[in-house]
Amino acid sequence: MSSMKADERNADQIAFWNGPGGRHWVDRQQAQDVVLAPVLAAALDRAAPRPGERVVDVGCGCGATTVELARRVGAAGRVLGIDVSAPMLARAAERLPPGLPVELAQADATTHAFPAAEFDLLFSRFGVMFFAEPERSFANLRRALRPGGRLAFACWRAPRENPWLMLPLQGAYEHVPPLPKLGPEDPGPFSFADAERVRRILGAAGFAAPGLEPLDLTLDLAAGGGLDAAVAAALDIGPTSRAIDDQPPSVRDAVAGSIRKLLAPHLRGASVPLAAAIWLVTAANP
Ligand SMILES: C[S@@+](CC[C@H](N)C(=O)[O-])C[C@H]1O[C@@H](n2cnc3c(N)ncnc32)[C@H](O)[C@@H]1O
Repeated sequence: MSSMKADERNADQIAFWNGPGGRHWVDRQQAQDVVLAPVLAAALDRAAPRPGERVVDVGCGCGATTVELARRVGAAGRVLGIDVSAPMLARAAERLPPGLPVELAQADATTHAFPAAEFDLLFSRFGVMFFAEPERSFANLRRALRPGGRLAFACWRAPRENPWLMLPLQGAYEHVPPLPKLGPEDPGPFSFADAERVRRILGAAGFAAPGLEPLDLTLDLAAGGGLDAAVAAALDIGPTSRAIDDQPPSVRDAVAGSIRKLLAPHLRGASVPLAAAIWLVTAANP
């Protein structure tokens, strides 16, 4: 592990993203980029990065978002991608096209010593729901923004509105015990589902005019690769991957069989389109 200075309360998440979580995302990077491309397009539309702007990509992961931000800001701009996950940052570094104005850093958004008032835009696709102390994390991030700078991120709405993640989990639960029940404010993919909570956190961190716009999408779990690809994806991402992580191959095979049965009715050509519910969140640094 690196000597990254981090919030001790983020230790579990840091271990997860440097362990199984990071491994799954690196293994699936190409397919995941395709599946989540519609979210990137919508979030970029709201963030509206302009040529010459300086951007932080928070929880940049394997870098799909960082690359696209860098293309938008161009040679006169700059994108700093930060993430706690060494393996995901390594993949991001490998896949960066040469010549883009990108810097990558292994850093915890909660504690990283950003240069003050340096950036025009804080951006994230699904990288901000894992903070143990979100008010502190967003206050730290806000200090990196110049006055008038913008925040734009995508996060998941409630589990029941996201069958693309929850239908596979139903299949897993035919064979494995349920995941420990998270409280509504515990870090995790759905921790920003409650709009009031998001407004409260951003307000406490000093942001002005928080706005949450619902985005309803159909995501192709198969990324155009047919039912086998959809089952492989379902086993490797989101809550299902956490639920089966320590299970032996025989149980994983049984889970795969159940997931296949649940997904088969949704197959359309080589795609498995399922509903996904997202908040597009924007706010400003006064
Ligand atoms: C669901 S992944 C999303 C990755 C990427 N943004 C994307 O859309 O492809 C969440 C990312 O947030 C990162 N992350 C979690 N906690 C973090 C923290 N405290 N500071 C920085 N990054 C963090 C994880 O390591 C992981 O890469």
